[in-house]
Amino acid sequence: MTTPDMLRYTRIPLTHGSGAIPAVGFGTLIPDPLATKQATKTALEVGFRNFDCAERYRNEEAVGDAMQEVFKAGSSQRKDVFVATKLWNTNHRPERVKPAFDASRRRLQVDYVDCYLIHTPFAFRPGDEQDPRDERGQVIYDSGVTLAETWGALERLVDDGHCKSIGLSDITLEKLREIVAAARIKPAVVQIESHPYLPEWGLLEFCQEHGIVLQAFAALGHALEPKVLDDPVIKAIAQRVHKTPAQVALAWAVQRGTAFLTTSTTPRRIQENFDISTLPEDAMRDIRNRITTTARFNPVVETGVPGFIPRAR
Ligand SMILES: NC(=O)c1ccc[n+]([C@@H]2O[C@H](COP(=O)([O-])OP(=O)(O)OC[C@H]3O[C@@H](n4cnc5c(N)ncnc54)[C@H](OP(=O)(O)O)[C@@H]3O)[C@@H](O)[C@H]2O)c1
Repeated sequence: MTTPDMLRYTRIPLTHGSGAIPAVGFGTLIPDPLATKQATKTALEVGFRNFDCAERYRNEEAVGDAMQEVFKAGSSQRKDVFVATKLWNTNHRPERVKPAFDASRRRLQVDYVDCYLIHTPFAFRPGDEQDPRDERGQVIYDSGVTLAETWGALERLVDDGHCKSIGLSDITLEKLREIVAAARIKPAVVQIESHPYLPEWGLLEFCQEHGIVLQAFAALGHALEPKVLDDPVIKAIAQRVHKTPAQVALAWAVQRGTAFLTTSTTPRRIQENFDISTLPEDAMRDIRNRITTTARFNPVVETGVPGFIPRAR
């Protein structure tokens, strides 16, 4: 009898925060609320126990509705699901942090959040307009608040008890070092773009040294060109191990010590993305050493402007 492969159930204990984060995560950056609800329900039903949300995605309510329906049906419980959401750029002023956090909790219909992240290190003009622009179409930034001040407000959310851990997203190694050095409560999770075309080994090493979980978004390359899933090295491994290219890329993410986020509105792919299995060591080595293409698909890290969200929204 063969032992079942447990890779998909990997949970990484949080050094800075309570509990553990499931390495296999479902992202909810889905424009349509109905599609969001359907995809979230499917993801919960096939086994995903980690959900990434954001006030900027404008669909937290749909995610909350889906979770409530599945919890009521009894196939999973709130305590088994890791729910993360993010503070948007227009709410960096410390006095805006708790109201934004409470509004997310209300929309998600949860009493506590497992991880609250600062969506990007860039503060935009405070207010209800999520994409403030001047007459020339340029983003209006807010120089009246520092990232450290916003971080201090997140630390107070942990003190208050409705937030189990806090994290950063779209951050460079340089800025991360500053926060880690100064923070009273260190980041538990750092969420950045990462996939075989953008492995971010330096950031991963720093995170591992400091007990921070690196969570990779766009783990499949967001279906953009050059396509990670068409890479010859990935495709050859997929054939060798009788898995799909997506399953190879996602297994690689877990085995190298990161958590990942992937998104799909196609039920068959949602199932596929959960059904990952351990890759042999030579496949891990091939992905690290034989892939030479590099690509960043989302420029958010440079500007704070989200790359995968259309401007008009
Ligand atoms: N912090 C940030 O700034 C930030 C930025 C971007 C994303 N994120 C988070 O990360 C999550 C994941 O990012 P992402 O959407 O870029 O992930 P991704 O999984 O790399 O890309 C999703 C795209 O891949 C396709 N896809 C999914 N599974 C597939 C499969 N098995 N085979 C072939 N194609 C497949 C999907 O198409 P279909 O839907 O048609 O199946 C969709 O077009 C987001 O939902 C969000 O939560 C965070």
